[in-house]
Amino acid sequence: MCGIVGAIADRDVVPLLIDGLKRLEYRGYDSAGLAVVDGEVRRVRRTGRVAEMEAAAQAEGFRAALGIGHTRWATHGGVTESNAHPHISHGEIALVHNGIIENHEQQRERLRALGYAFESQTDTEVIAHLIHHYRSQGDDLLAALQRAVRELDGAYALAVVDKREPGRLVAARMGCPLLVGLGEGENFVASDVSAIVSVTRRVIYLEEGDTAEVTRQGVRIFDAEGRPAQREVHVSDVSLASLELGPYRHFMQKEIHEQPRAIADTIEAVVDAGGFSPALFGADAQALLRDVDRVQILACGTSHYAGLVARYWIEAIAGIPCAVDIASEYRYRKVVADPRQLVVTISQSGETLDTMEALKYAKSLGHAKTLAICNVPESAIPRASALVFYTRAGAEIGVASTKAFTTQLVALFALAGTLARLRGALTEAQQAEYLEALRHLPGSVQHALNLEPQIVAWAERFATKEHALFLGRGVHYPIALEGALKLKEISYIHAEAYPAGELKHGPLALVDSEMPVVVIAPNDSLLEKVKSNIQEVRARGGEMFVFADADSHFGESEGVHVIRTPRHVGVLSPVVHAIPVQLLAYHAALARGTDVDKPRNLAKSVTVE
Ligand code: AGP
Repeated sequence: MCGIVGAIADRDVVPLLIDGLKRLEYRGYDSAGLAVVDGEVRRVRRTGRVAEMEAAAQAEGFRAALGIGHTRWATHGGVTESNAHPHISHGEIALVHNGIIENHEQQRERLRALGYAFESQTDTEVIAHLIHHYRSQGDDLLAALQRAVRELDGAYALAVVDKREPGRLVAARMGCPLLVGLGEGENFVASDVSAIVSVTRRVIYLEEGDTAEVTRQGVRIFDAEGRPAQREVHVSDVSLASLELGPYRHFMQKEIHEQPRAIADTIEAVVDAGGFSPALFGADAQALLRDVDRVQILACGTSHYAGLVARYWIEAIAGIPCAVDIASEYRYRKVVADPRQLVVTISQSGETLDTMEALKYAKSLGHAKTLAICNVPESAIPRASALVFYTRAGAEIGVASTKAFTTQLVALFALAGTLARLRGALTEAQQAEYLEALRHLPGSVQHALNLEPQIVAWAERFATKEHALFLGRGVHYPIALEGALKLKEISYIHAEAYPAGELKHGPLALVDSEMPVVVIAPNDSLLEKVKSNIQEVRARGGEMFVFADADSHFGESEGVHVIRTPRHVGVLSPVVHAIPVQLLAYHAALARGTDVDKPRNLAKSVTVE
């Protein structure tokens, strides 16, 4: 969603800010802007791409040693230049903001009564005026910021500059990520390390309620009570290569093809731990996982579908009941607490607000056994969890999650194996068999990727359709859900997924020759049932597109097209069958000419409710 970058240096920071904003583009945004302090506060804002804002900044000769930049994903107020950040108060204070201020209406009324005029419909503008108000009462910029944030309800990451204090920028964080980057004689703030990785890897993650003063010489951090605070310096290992497109046309395409490597890297953690071991999840895992009697999974979107696959594994392999909830639903449900329940959150970004709030809710009910499965080190959700498994997918830039999903599945399979072992439900022979299946997984995924030319041919037919159905059964039903989500989010083709047995209870009414039906049909215990369901569709004139492995013995016939997936890969089959549905969505989107990496209305990290 929104992105922040700020810099103070002895050189012109405008190119750094623009570069940082470009690196944040993947998060999803609809306008961009920057403000610099150069004797006065100068600002440029544009709706649309950062490149358009960059051209305007160049045309107007922007140069300065202090500045802040922002990419905005509209929440309060439409996509207009006047709603874009930075917001300025009285030509002196410029501010960028991620998050949502819930009491902005009350603050607006109060500030209006004090004589402040508003130029935008945003919740953010009140913060700029509030800081200006305290500044005009004699506070310096840092003190004014600290007073202002005490009066805000909601979530924020803020970076602020003041033309009367050109030697510093100040920042604050509550509920939205913000970090300080440490350079040599220059320092930075950013909402995401990728924004500043070309200038420094040394970062300090601000904690909830922190404020910071950033000068050329150093950084001072204060906790929520305004006391000086020490925070650890981390060296980020985000690779620049993962932020570059290389020979690929889109990040999604690159990330689909990176899956054999990402999966192998994630499996390496399991191998290093000597198999399914609590050590995979952190130092305290043995004690926390030992007496787990139920599992509750919380996540959103694709991560939720990973949880749905995991439910089959956890129940079948470990024999432990497992519930899976959409985080935004769980957080508002009256939940029966069980201290022996393990609460597992799954989040690629580690920032998703609904998942974070669901975790907080579970903790407030007394759930101390919490585990985060996450792809972004030091992000908010793992930091709030007792145990963590970091997937090793590398930075995922495309809005459509691909390699994060398949590596989450590997992590969840390892969790099922570990819980089974701790309960004595897994023999050495079974463990060896599962580890062998894991070892073969990157190869099977590569075979699935090799199906791309056949899938391209299917995708061209899909591109002309407006609707599609996806069917699966058992552990492959969540893969059908994931296929439908991928297709709709990047190609804008309306797609729904059903367990194939549910078809005749309603969705069959939709089937006609214009409705392509994708079926995930590997050779598992439900194959014969799926074959019957397919007949039901064929009898109504529906065109079938079947992903079936060689052992499924599916023949092509009129209206039934079959792509053979790698030979039966057993328990890890959902991971392998995720690949063709990703490729189908990607190529259908390509054929329709949509913006694959930045689909309309969507953002990579969903940090609002
Ligand atoms: C996936 O393609 C989506 N863009 C989206 O559903 C995503 O999985 C969801 O927003 C959850 O994100 P998270 O994994 O970062 O928490």
